[in-house]
Amino acid sequence: MDWLNKLALPQSFEHIELLGYMLIIMIFLFIVFSSISLWGTVLSFYLKKNLSKSLDPNYNRLSKGIMDIVLFNKTTGIAFCILPIITMIIIFSQLYQSQNTSISDYFVYSLVFSFIGLLFVYRYKNSLDDFRKSDIYSGLFGSISLFFSLWLFVAALTNSIFIESSQTAAGIGYLFTTVVLIRFVLLLLISLVITGAFLVFGIFNIKTPPKEDDEEYTEIAKKFILNISFTAAGLIPLFIIMDMMMMPDNFLTAGYFLYLILGLIFLFIGYHLFYLLYKKINKTVAAYLVVAIILFLLTYGLNNQMIIFGANKLNFTELNNEYQIQLAALKGEDKAPEINAEEIYQVKCAPCHSFDKKLVGPPHDEVIPKYFNKENQLISFIRNPVRVNEAYPPMPNPGLKPDEAKAVAEYLLTKVQEDVSNKK
Ligand code: HEC
Repeated sequence: MDWLNKLALPQSFEHIELLGYMLIIMIFLFIVFSSISLWGTVLSFYLKKNLSKSLDPNYNRLSKGIMDIVLFNKTTGIAFCILPIITMIIIFSQLYQSQNTSISDYFVYSLVFSFIGLLFVYRYKNSLDDFRKSDIYSGLFGSISLFFSLWLFVAALTNSIFIESSQTAAGIGYLFTTVVLIRFVLLLLISLVITGAFLVFGIFNIKTPPKEDDEEYTEIAKKFILNISFTAAGLIPLFIIMDMMMMPDNFLTAGYFLYLILGLIFLFIGYHLFYLLYKKINKTVAAYLVVAIILFLLTYGLNNQMIIFGANKLNFTELNNEYQIQLAALKGEDKAPEINAEEIYQVKCAPCHSFDKKLVGPPHDEVIPKYFNKENQLISFIRNPVRVNEAYPPMPNPGLKPDEAKAVAEYLLTKVQEDVSNKK
């Protein structure tokens, strides 16, 4: 994505930090809404495909009920799936501007799949209005597409963590590396739990709350949604540990463990609330569950952001340096410090030399004239003194940089030339 790099500007640490916070919000929004669209559609599709054969109207009702919650209006998908990815592409191209990475490639593909997926999912949802004509294949394509979108999203995030080694693993093969797969499964589990929490909340709170005698519907919804998301929640710690083991040791900072433990606490609260809901569906408990899962997800986002930023300290330091240089240029302070030949001479040469007197070394007025018109030879002598006159001890190397030696040589030549012409 070369054109993106052209848009990028070096950033100061403050800007980078700000981008980091934006990143958390975007990761959060994208995961929440992609998850719900993906798993909501999968569940609804599954109900339609397999269970509606039993002709139990509750399955149809649940299948449609789920989609009504998932896509509660027309713009959610665009606002919460598409825009976050675009923002993340921009953020990452700012953060990795000088590097040749595949991060934004994966994001762009994720964006494409997300877009296609959402189109199909909307189509599927609209087709449910008339259950005889429902277009279940749109549901299938939609969820497959969203599945790939999430996978590519994980690849992009993971790539930004292993930025140093990622050069070797680009392209499709990267999607099948152990790290990406583990992190992808973890994300799928997390997204199932999010979906479960939101659906339970939605079905029993917002949309047509089941009547008291609607026990069968409640049972089906309970069995279906709670079972699946509770199982997923149970598997999450296992994959968090696997994910942790894949991380290089130096990423596992105190902050990482703090968020990890906080996250696990929220998750355990979530288990408990799942259990309460299992025993009895209760609106308030469902709301608490959503809050617990949101908090859990936030810690997951923070954790990822911390790791990404930990892995890129060097990169960001460079960005900051570049920014400082550009800022200095804007302020007109960018000129390299003037080399002051006289000052260097006073410090490095004057202790042993004078123009007209013999000190440790010979007077310049005597030895410099042989270098008239031979500036380069003088420079190379100053940089690497050699034995010249047996009457003197050897001159130690003054250790000047090339441009400093040149400046001093010019200074000596002009001064001595002046002295010589003054004497005439
Ligand atoms: C520690 C003392 C010392 C310092 C410092 C020193 N010089 Fe010398 N310099 C000498 C001595 C001794 C000689 C004579 C060496 C010889 O003839 O072999 C000499 C010789 C020279 C010569 C004459 C070379 C020739 O072809 O005859 C030049 C030119 C010269 N120094 C330049 C410098 C410059 C420029 C600096 C500072 C960057 C410097 N020196 C720093 C001790 C010093």
